[in-house]
Amino acid sequence: MSPLPTPGAPASGLLRIVLIGDIVGKPGMRIACAAVPWLREKLLAKLIVANAENAADGSGLRCRDFRKLCEHGVDAITLGDHVYRKREIIEVLETKHNIVRPANLPSSAPGKSQMTIELENSVKVGIVAALGRVFMKPVDCPFQAVDRELDRFDASVRIRLVDFHAEATSDKQLMGRYLDGRASAMLGTHTHVATADEQLFPGGTAYQTDVGMTGPFDSVLGRRTEAVLEATLSSLPVPFQVAKEDVRMNATWFDVDPESGKSLAIGRLNLSETSLIALQQAKQAMPKLL
Ligand SMILES: [Fe+2]
Ligand SMILES: [Fe+2]
Repeated sequence: MSPLPTPGAPASGLLRIVLIGDIVGKPGMRIACAAVPWLREKLLAKLIVANAENAADGSGLRCRDFRKLCEHGVDAITLGDHVYRKREIIEVLETKHNIVRPANLPSSAPGKSQMTIELENSVKVGIVAALGRVFMKPVDCPFQAVDRELDRFDASVRIRLVDFHAEATSDKQLMGRYLDGRASAMLGTHTHVATADEQLFPGGTAYQTDVGMTGPFDSVLGRRTEAVLEATLSSLPVPFQVAKEDVRMNATWFDVDPESGKSLAIGRLNLSETSLIALQQAKQAMPKLL
Protein backbone atom coordinates (compact mmCIF):
# COMPACT_ATOMS: atom_id res chain seq x y z
CA MET A 1 0.00 0.00 0.00
CA SER A 2 1.51 3.32 -0.98
CA PRO A 3 0.72 6.35 1.16
CA LEU A 4 -2.09 8.56 -0.03
CA PRO A 5 -1.22 12.17 -0.87
CA THR A 6 -1.37 14.48 2.10
CA PRO A 7 -3.18 17.79 1.70
CA GLY A 8 -1.87 21.32 1.80
CA ALA A 9 -3.20 23.86 4.27
CA PRO A 10 -6.97 24.36 4.43
CA ALA A 11 -8.38 27.24 2.39
CA SER A 12 -8.63 30.56 4.19
CA GLY A 13 -11.28 30.63 6.90
CA LEU A 14 -11.87 26.89 6.93
CA LEU A 15 -11.27 24.60 9.90
CA ARG A 16 -9.74 21.18 9.46
CA ILE A 17 -11.14 18.29 11.49
CA VAL A 18 -9.69 14.77 11.56
CA LEU A 19 -11.37 11.50 12.53
CA ILE A 20 -8.94 8.65 13.29
CA GLY A 21 -10.48 5.28 12.36
CA ASP A 22 -11.05 2.46 14.89
CA ILE A 23 -7.92 2.23 17.05
CA VAL A 24 -7.00 -1.43 17.54
CA GLY A 25 -4.88 -2.56 20.49
CA LYS A 26 -1.41 -1.43 21.47
CA PRO A 27 -0.18 -1.01 17.86
CA GLY A 28 -3.14 1.25 17.08
CA MET A 29 -2.61 3.26 20.23
CA ARG A 30 1.09 3.65 19.42
CA ILE A 31 0.61 5.05 15.92
CA ALA A 32 -2.43 7.17 16.86
CA CYS A 33 -0.53 8.85 19.70
CA ALA A 34 2.57 9.31 17.52
CA ALA A 35 0.49 10.86 14.72
CA VAL A 36 -1.25 13.54 16.76
CA PRO A 37 1.59 16.13 16.70
CA TRP A 38 1.89 15.72 12.94
CA LEU A 39 -1.88 16.01 12.49
CA ARG A 40 -1.85 19.15 14.61
CA GLU A 41 1.29 20.90 13.39
CA LYS A 42 1.67 19.83 9.75
CA LEU A 43 -1.83 18.84 8.73
CA LEU A 44 -3.11 21.85 10.70
CA ALA A 45 -6.00 19.97 12.29
CA LYS A 46 -7.97 22.11 14.74
CA LEU A 47 -9.90 19.15 16.12
CA ILE A 48 -8.75 15.54 16.35
CA VAL A 49 -11.42 12.94 17.06
CA ALA A 50 -10.68 9.22 17.41
CA ASN A 51 -12.91 6.18 17.36
CA ALA A 52 -11.28 4.13 20.11
CA GLU A 53 -13.72 1.23 20.56
CA ASN A 54 -10.97 -1.39 19.99
CA ALA A 55 -8.13 0.27 21.89
CA ALA A 56 -8.08 -2.17 24.83
CA ASP A 57 -6.48 -5.33 23.40
CA GLY A 58 -8.85 -5.16 20.45
CA SER A 59 -12.14 -4.64 22.26
CA GLY A 60 -13.32 -1.74 24.39
CA LEU A 61 -11.53 1.19 25.98
CA ARG A 62 -9.85 1.31 29.40
CA CYS A 63 -9.52 4.42 31.57
CA ARG A 64 -5.79 4.44 30.97
CA ASP A 65 -6.29 4.29 27.18
CA PHE A 66 -8.65 7.25 27.39
CA ARG A 67 -6.14 9.21 29.49
CA LYS A 68 -3.27 8.36 27.14
CA LEU A 69 -5.16 9.51 24.06
CA CYS A 70 -6.12 12.77 25.78
CA GLU A 71 -2.58 13.36 27.04
CA HIS A 72 -1.24 12.91 23.51
CA GLY A 73 -3.67 15.51 22.20
CA VAL A 74 -6.75 13.68 20.97
CA ASP A 75 -9.62 16.10 21.59
CA ALA A 76 -12.64 13.82 21.54
CA ILE A 77 -13.44 10.11 21.49
CA THR A 78 -16.25 8.11 19.95
CA LEU A 79 -16.98 4.44 20.49
CA GLY A 80 -19.09 1.73 18.89
CA ASP A 81 -20.63 -1.65 19.59
CA HIS A 82 -17.76 -2.46 22.00
CA VAL A 83 -18.52 0.62 24.10
CA TYR A 84 -18.98 -1.20 27.42
CA ARG A 85 -16.59 -4.13 26.84
CA LYS A 86 -14.37 -2.72 29.59
CA ARG A 87 -16.83 -1.75 32.32
CA GLU A 88 -14.34 0.57 34.00
CA ILE A 89 -14.91 3.07 31.18
CA ILE A 90 -18.45 3.77 32.44
CA GLU A 91 -17.13 6.26 34.98
CA VAL A 92 -15.24 8.09 32.23
CA LEU A 93 -18.33 8.05 30.01
CA GLU A 94 -20.39 9.57 32.81
CA THR A 95 -17.93 12.23 33.95
CA LYS A 96 -15.79 13.40 31.02
CA HIS A 97 -17.01 15.98 28.52
CA ASN A 98 -15.15 14.66 25.47
CA ILE A 99 -16.39 11.08 25.04
CA VAL A 100 -19.77 9.78 23.87
CA ARG A 101 -21.56 6.47 23.72
CA PRO A 102 -23.65 5.59 20.66
CA ALA A 103 -26.85 7.68 20.70
CA ASN A 104 -29.29 4.90 19.81
CA LEU A 105 -28.82 2.79 22.94
CA PRO A 106 -31.56 2.84 25.61
CA SER A 107 -31.78 6.21 27.36
CA SER A 108 -30.74 4.48 30.60
CA ALA A 109 -27.41 3.34 29.07
CA PRO A 110 -24.43 4.99 30.81
CA GLY A 111 -22.76 7.93 29.11
CA LYS A 112 -23.72 10.92 27.00
CA SER A 113 -25.39 10.66 23.62
CA GLN A 114 -23.74 13.81 22.25
CA MET A 115 -20.90 16.19 23.03
CA THR A 116 -19.94 19.74 22.12
CA ILE A 117 -16.25 20.64 21.89
CA GLU A 118 -15.34 24.32 21.93
CA LEU A 119 -12.43 25.45 19.76
CA GLU A 120 -10.64 28.80 19.56
CA ASN A 121 -12.78 31.86 18.77
CA SER A 122 -15.74 30.14 20.47
CA VAL A 123 -16.30 27.84 17.50
CA LYS A 124 -18.30 24.83 18.66
CA VAL A 125 -18.32 21.34 17.19
CA GLY A 126 -21.13 18.93 18.00
CA ILE A 127 -20.36 15.22 17.78
CA VAL A 128 -22.78 12.30 17.70
CA ALA A 129 -22.19 8.59 17.19
CA ALA A 130 -24.79 5.97 16.28
CA LEU A 131 -24.83 2.23 15.63
CA GLY A 132 -26.19 0.46 12.57
CA ARG A 133 -28.72 -2.36 12.77
CA VAL A 134 -27.60 -4.77 10.05
CA PHE A 135 -25.43 -7.70 11.27
CA MET A 136 -25.26 -5.99 14.67
CA LYS A 137 -27.07 -6.28 17.99
CA PRO A 138 -30.56 -4.75 18.03
CA VAL A 139 -30.62 -1.04 18.85
CA ASP A 140 -33.04 1.83 18.36
CA CYS A 141 -33.43 3.46 14.95
CA PRO A 142 -30.16 5.30 14.20
CA PHE A 143 -31.87 7.77 11.84
CA GLN A 144 -34.33 8.92 14.48
CA ALA A 145 -31.62 8.98 17.14
CA VAL A 146 -29.36 11.20 15.03
CA ASP A 147 -32.32 13.46 14.20
CA ARG A 148 -33.06 13.83 17.87
CA GLU A 149 -29.44 14.60 18.77
CA LEU A 150 -28.98 17.13 15.96
CA ASP A 151 -32.16 18.90 17.12
CA ARG A 152 -30.79 19.08 20.66
CA PHE A 153 -27.67 21.02 19.64
CA ASP A 154 -27.74 24.72 20.34
CA ALA A 155 -28.04 26.85 17.18
CA SER A 156 -24.50 28.12 17.83
CA VAL A 157 -23.18 24.58 17.17
CA ARG A 158 -22.90 24.91 13.40
CA ILE A 159 -20.23 22.26 12.83
CA ARG A 160 -21.66 18.80 13.37
CA LEU A 161 -19.88 15.47 12.95
CA VAL A 162 -21.74 12.17 12.88
CA ASP A 163 -19.78 8.91 13.33
CA PHE A 164 -22.07 6.18 11.98
CA HIS A 165 -20.69 2.92 13.31
CA ALA A 166 -22.27 0.36 11.05
CA GLU A 167 -21.66 -2.68 8.89
CA ALA A 168 -23.86 -2.17 5.84
CA THR A 169 -22.52 0.20 3.17
CA SER A 170 -26.07 0.89 1.97
CA ASP A 171 -27.19 2.01 5.43
CA LYS A 172 -24.20 4.28 5.69
CA GLN A 173 -24.81 5.88 2.31
CA LEU A 174 -28.45 6.35 3.23
CA MET A 175 -27.49 8.03 6.50
CA GLY A 176 -25.05 10.29 4.65
CA ARG A 177 -27.71 11.33 2.13
CA TYR A 178 -30.27 11.73 4.90
CA LEU A 179 -27.98 14.10 6.77
CA ASP A 180 -26.81 16.07 3.73
CA GLY A 181 -27.03 19.74 4.60
CA ARG A 182 -27.71 19.03 8.29
CA ALA A 183 -24.33 17.60 9.30
CA SER A 184 -20.91 18.92 8.33
CA ALA A 185 -19.69 15.35 7.98
CA MET A 186 -20.95 11.81 8.23
CA LEU A 187 -18.05 9.44 8.47
CA GLY A 188 -18.49 5.70 8.87
CA THR A 189 -16.57 3.44 11.23
CA HIS A 190 -16.74 -0.21 12.43
CA THR A 191 -15.77 -2.31 9.38
CA HIS A 192 -12.03 -1.57 9.79
CA VAL A 193 -11.78 -1.41 5.99
CA ALA A 194 -11.42 2.07 4.52
CA THR A 195 -13.61 2.86 1.54
CA ALA A 196 -12.40 4.98 -1.38
CA ASP A 197 -15.62 6.96 -1.67
CA GLU A 198 -14.86 10.15 0.24
CA GLN A 199 -16.91 12.94 -1.28
CA LEU A 200 -18.86 16.12 -0.68
CA PHE A 201 -22.61 15.81 -0.97
CA PRO A 202 -24.51 18.73 -2.61
CA GLY A 203 -25.73 20.16 0.70
CA GLY A 204 -22.19 20.44 2.09
CA THR A 205 -21.89 17.19 4.03
CA ALA A 206 -18.50 15.50 3.79
CA TYR A 207 -19.02 11.76 3.49
CA GLN A 208 -17.09 8.49 3.60
CA THR A 209 -18.61 5.06 4.08
CA ASP A 210 -15.79 3.90 6.36
CA VAL A 211 -12.67 5.61 7.63
CA GLY A 212 -10.92 2.26 8.18
CA MET A 213 -8.66 1.00 10.95
CA THR A 214 -5.71 2.28 12.94
CA GLY A 215 -3.69 -0.77 13.88
CA PRO A 216 -1.88 -3.79 12.44
CA PHE A 217 -2.80 -4.39 8.79
CA ASP A 218 -1.04 -7.78 8.48
CA SER A 219 -4.16 -9.27 10.06
CA VAL A 220 -7.89 -9.87 9.70
CA LEU A 221 -9.44 -6.58 10.86
CA GLY A 222 -6.56 -6.19 13.33
CA ARG A 223 -6.52 -9.74 14.76
CA ARG A 224 -3.90 -12.44 14.06
CA THR A 225 -4.78 -14.18 10.80
CA GLU A 226 -3.72 -17.61 12.13
CA ALA A 227 -6.11 -17.36 15.08
CA VAL A 228 -9.07 -16.26 12.95
CA LEU A 229 -8.32 -19.01 10.44
CA GLU A 230 -8.03 -21.68 13.14
CA ALA A 231 -11.33 -20.63 14.70
CA THR A 232 -13.02 -20.62 11.30
CA LEU A 233 -11.70 -23.99 10.14
CA SER A 234 -12.07 -25.84 13.46
CA SER A 235 -15.24 -24.18 14.83
CA LEU A 236 -13.43 -24.16 18.20
CA PRO A 237 -13.25 -21.01 20.31
CA VAL A 238 -9.82 -19.46 19.77
CA PRO A 239 -8.67 -16.19 21.36
CA PHE A 240 -8.28 -13.51 18.71
CA GLN A 241 -5.05 -11.78 19.71
CA VAL A 242 -4.26 -8.38 18.24
CA ALA A 243 -1.72 -8.72 15.40
CA LYS A 244 1.53 -6.76 15.38
CA GLU A 245 2.85 -6.13 11.90
CA ASP A 246 2.34 -3.42 9.27
CA VAL A 247 0.92 -0.83 11.63
CA ARG A 248 -1.01 1.92 9.86
CA MET A 249 -3.29 4.77 10.66
CA ASN A 250 -6.41 5.28 8.61
CA ALA A 251 -7.95 8.69 9.18
CA THR A 252 -10.14 11.15 7.30
CA TRP A 253 -9.91 14.93 7.31
CA PHE A 254 -12.47 17.47 6.22
CA ASP A 255 -12.34 21.25 5.93
CA VAL A 256 -15.44 23.06 7.14
CA ASP A 257 -16.68 26.62 7.08
CA PRO A 258 -17.39 27.55 10.72
CA GLU A 259 -20.03 30.11 9.69
CA SER A 260 -22.22 27.82 7.60
CA GLY A 261 -21.15 24.43 8.97
CA LYS A 262 -20.73 23.21 5.40
CA SER A 263 -17.69 21.22 4.31
CA LEU A 264 -15.65 22.20 1.28
CA ALA A 265 -12.99 19.47 1.14
CA ILE A 266 -12.42 15.92 2.35
CA GLY A 267 -9.60 13.41 2.05
CA ARG A 268 -8.25 10.14 3.41
CA LEU A 269 -4.98 9.33 5.14
CA ASN A 270 -3.32 5.92 5.16
CA LEU A 271 0.00 6.23 6.96
CA SER A 272 2.45 3.53 7.99
CA GLU A 273 4.73 4.17 10.94
CA THR A 274 7.63 4.57 8.49
CA SER A 275 5.85 7.13 6.33
CA LEU A 276 4.67 8.98 9.43
CA ILE A 277 8.25 9.31 10.68
CA ALA A 278 9.33 10.58 7.23
CA LEU A 279 6.51 13.14 7.20
CA GLN A 280 7.34 14.28 10.72
CA GLN A 281 10.96 14.82 9.71
CA ALA A 282 10.11 16.64 6.48
CA LYS A 283 10.96 20.32 6.77
CA GLN A 284 8.94 21.31 3.75
CA ALA A 285 5.22 21.87 3.78
CA MET A 286 3.18 18.98 2.57
CA PRO A 287 2.66 18.31 -1.13
CA LYS A 288 -0.38 19.80 -2.78
CA LEU A 289 -3.57 17.79 -2.75
CA LEU A 290 -3.92 15.89 -6.01
FE1 LIG B 1 -14.08 -1.44 15.50
FE1 LIG C 1 -17.44 -1.85 15.94
